[in-house]
Amino acid sequence: MNILIFFEREGDKMVSRADRLHDVLTHLRYEGRMSRTKNLRAARDVIKNLEVRLEEHWNFQEKVIFPFIQIRVPRQEAAIHFLEEEHEGIKKYKDNLKRALQRQSESNASLGDGKIYEQGICLISLLHHHLGFEKRHIYRSVRKELRQDEKNEMSKRIAGWVKKQRKGKNGFAAEEADAGSFGRRKSARRNSLNSLRAHCSSRRQSHD
Ligand SMILES: [Fe+2]
Repeated sequence: MNILIFFEREGDKMVSRADRLHDVLTHLRYEGRMSRTKNLRAARDVIKNLEVRLEEHWNFQEKVIFPFIQIRVPRQEAAIHFLEEEHEGIKKYKDNLKRALQRQSESNASLGDGKIYEQGICLISLLHHHLGFEKRHIYRSVRKELRQDEKNEMSKRIAGWVKKQRKGKNGFAAEEADAGSFGRRKSARRNSLNSLRAHCSSRRQSHD
């Protein structure tokens, strides 16, 4: 498996799902009552599908890719913590949008349609930003900074993860991915972000 091609394809798939969400929400917002039932159902289907893909994206990155890179390219630690925070932000936007779509009536247009469209745009924008950031920081780092044997090892872990996903199991091979290390990583991420915020805040004050 060529991991760089794999990353490229995964990124492209997520972008096309975000584009699909944009399409269905635009139809729902602007096509009117005659197509409302069809468009609302389509939007609900797309968000459900996106939800599944996002779960895979989070699990794959937070349990396989990020721990691997964080050990081998420590200077990417802050970028990784930032991306993990964004995963939580994307999840919140996605949950809010999903709930709003579930609440909408299929037969009656409502003032909620405009709000749903705006929520969708926020989610899509965040997703695009997130995927671009990953490409520029994480995948570029994989391409330029990992040795060939490290790339091979990462490729093996990805293949193992994909295989287990296909079998419907939740396990994965990376030793960093055990529950204990995952909890420690969350705690480390919190500490790192807190010190980053404190640093930004003190810089702002010194400029005031
Ligand atoms: Fe991500």
